[in-house]
This record gives sequence, structure tokens and C-alpha cells, in this order.
Amino acid sequence: MRPLIAPSLLSANFLNLQRDVEMINNSEADWLHLDIMDGVFIPNISFGFPVLADLKKVCKKKLDVHLMIVEPQKFIHEVAALGAYMMNVHYEACTHLHRVITAIKEAGMKAGVTLNPHTPVVLLEDIIQDLDMVLLMSVNPGYGGQKFITHTLDKTKALREMIDRKGLKTLIEIDGGVNLQTGKQLLDAGADVLVAGSFVFNSPDPIQTIHELKTL
Ligand code: DX5
Ligand code: ZN
Repeated sequence: MRPLIAPSLLSANFLNLQRDVEMINNSEADWLHLDIMDGVFIPNISFGFPVLADLKKVCKKKLDVHLMIVEPQKFIHEVAALGAYMMNVHYEACTHLHRVITAIKEAGMKAGVTLNPHTPVVLLEDIIQDLDMVLLMSVNPGYGGQKFITHTLDKTKALREMIDRKGLKTLIEIDGGVNLQTGKQLLDAGADVLVAGSFVFNSPDPIQTIHELKTL
């Protein structure tokens, strides 16, 4: 099965957001990945809801929202109001993860849980059945253009085994340092969705690059 491809807006040209979103619209990308940061959960700040409210007017792809913030449950209604398809919250940011997942679904969205590189997949053993997706960070979250952490391949295999053993349909998405080489390794390890920021937007022909990821 072909992977789902989710270019990350973080590496777009913010002076030309509409142009870059229209490029995504015209590509084989499946989703647009949106990284929201708070400068607390991670040491950086990106863009917020006023920017995304305008962006959603031109974006034809499903929105895959990755919240790198503390207390993400406070923003479920804002994310739902964007018309987001998937809302990803960090495992490390949610004391009452089951409650947050339930609220995301009640707001009409798919629910994803993100793991930082140091967080083991085994911690999902008692929540995986309630998740539409697990997002494995293959870099420490906060910045585009970082080096892929190779151990993510082992985590992907372990998560694939858990999902298959339980007979679930939970998707596995990987975020950080994805290119054609790491993308192929991740798909072989059992990933379903690839996020790619700098590899897509810094390439001379982003539409062709998205095609190459889609046909890995
Ligand atoms: C990092 C973000 C990523 C980022 C990936 O914190 O979650 O989505 O945009 O960028 P690349 O693909 O350049 O590693
Ligand atoms: Zn992300």
C-alpha cells in the first residue's frame, strides 16, 4: 500500500504561505502537517490559530495538527474549529491521556498520540486500542531540518508488532528527518504516514519530491 504523505508547513516560506499551500494542493500529498509550539513544552514557537484560520481557507488537503504544547486539552475546540482531520497530542504532555483522547473524538476529530524519541512504545499498551494514530518523533521536537534518530526504526517495528498483535488499524506516522532513504527504511519497518518538512520545501521541485515519497 502506498504511504500517506504529510508535508510539514514549518519549512514553508511564511512570506508566501498561500503559494506554498497551493503547491501542496496541486501535489500528491495526502495531508498538510501543522506544527503548533508554545515555547514551554519545547524550546521554540511557530504559528498559531489566527494564521491557520486563514490558511484553512485555501488548503484542500486534510489537516494533521501536531500540538507541541503543554495542556493541549485546552485547545481541542480551537483545533476542531479549524476543521482538522487529526489532532495529535504528546503523551508527555497529558496526565489524563484517555480523557483527552475521548474529548478529541467527541469534538469530531481523529485522535493521535505523539511520542518523543525517549518515550518507549510499550507505554501505549493500554491506550493503543483507542487511538487512530501514533506519531513517533524521529527528532527532538521543535525544529525542522534535524538529523533522523536511527533508533526510530526499532520503535516503528515494535509499534507495528503491537498494532498487528492486537488486530488494530491504528496508523503509524513518523516525523523528523524524513527523506527518500529514511522514508524507505521507515516504510519497511511498518510506518503508514511520513511527515516531511525541509526535504520537501528545500528541494528544487517540491511536487516531484512529494511524488517520489508517495511512490517509495
Ligand atoms: C519538528 C516538527 C516537524 C518538522 C519536521 O518539531 O514536528 O514536523 O517540521 O521537519 P523535517 O522534516 O525538516 O525534519
Ligand atoms: Zn510535527
